[in-house]
Amino acid sequence: MPSYDFSDRVAAVTGGSSGIGRETAIHFAKHGASVVVADVDDEKGEDVVSTIEDDGGEAVYVHTDVTDMDQIEEMVQTAIDEYGRLDYAVNNAGIGGQQLPAGDLSEDDWGAVIDINLNGVWRSLKAELEEMVDQDDGGVVINMASVLGQVGFENSSAYVSAKHGVMGLTKTAAWEYAEEDIRINAVGPGFIETQMLAEGGITEDEELRAQIEAMHSQKRLGQPEEIADAVMWLCSDGASFTNGEALMVDSGFTKR
Ligand code: NAI
Repeated sequence: MPSYDFSDRVAAVTGGSSGIGRETAIHFAKHGASVVVADVDDEKGEDVVSTIEDDGGEAVYVHTDVTDMDQIEEMVQTAIDEYGRLDYAVNNAGIGGQQLPAGDLSEDDWGAVIDINLNGVWRSLKAELEEMVDQDDGGVVINMASVLGQVGFENSSAYVSAKHGVMGLTKTAAWEYAEEDIRINAVGPGFIETQMLAEGGITEDEELRAQIEAMHSQKRLGQPEEIADAVMWLCSDGASFTNGEALMVDSGFTKR
């Protein structure tokens, strides 16, 4: 594992209870940061905190539904109250949503995905920026996009639209806050072996899994740790001139 020194730094991760968010929280703590784990799944969130603490790290869980601005403000306030600042924010909470052609989605199906996967990222960014603008040293924000933020995918129009939106928000906000010493980037994972894919029936169905694996040059699904490593680099000083970028961690999915 590459090594970074995030000691005396504070990170917050939405959707931190599971999958990519969980690994990202654990990685931050391994590199010395104190971590705010934010999610709606309280049991799994507390489990992430215990895992970090058992390994000698610092973390706190706060129930945070990213559809609720007050709860997001509470997440940022928790970082300040517990650890005094917020250096790194990873806006990662997301759902897959109904898998249907665009015309077969209900307004609620469409709205649920947009409200969590796009509006939730904007709400989180808004609350985080308010703090980062006011503190010395600025900060780094990572928005979790997807390969589906760059290309279309059947039966996923709301998800694809939200992730394209996250890419646009990231590019724009990066320009707006660069002078405040805040870098804002996106990560675009390929298909990663998490609860989200299991719920979408992809990991269990051998034929479907093989089809999805074949879309990646290395003919396998990615692991959450491989995305967490990309997030660590983007937060590190090694990425000091990287801003408004969409770092695709997708084994070439979007490159053919
Ligand atoms: P996951 O299902 O393992 O984790 C998602 C987490 O988000 C869960 O802990 C869930 O409780 C939480 N969450 C859901 N709704 C929430 C809400 N309203 N407020 C706060 N938290 C909420 O899924 P995974 O795969 O780790 O996904 C994380 C992010 O990565 C998502 O944004 C997803 O779109 C993105 N992504 C995932 C890919 C994959 O293949 N697994 C590929 C590309 C992007």
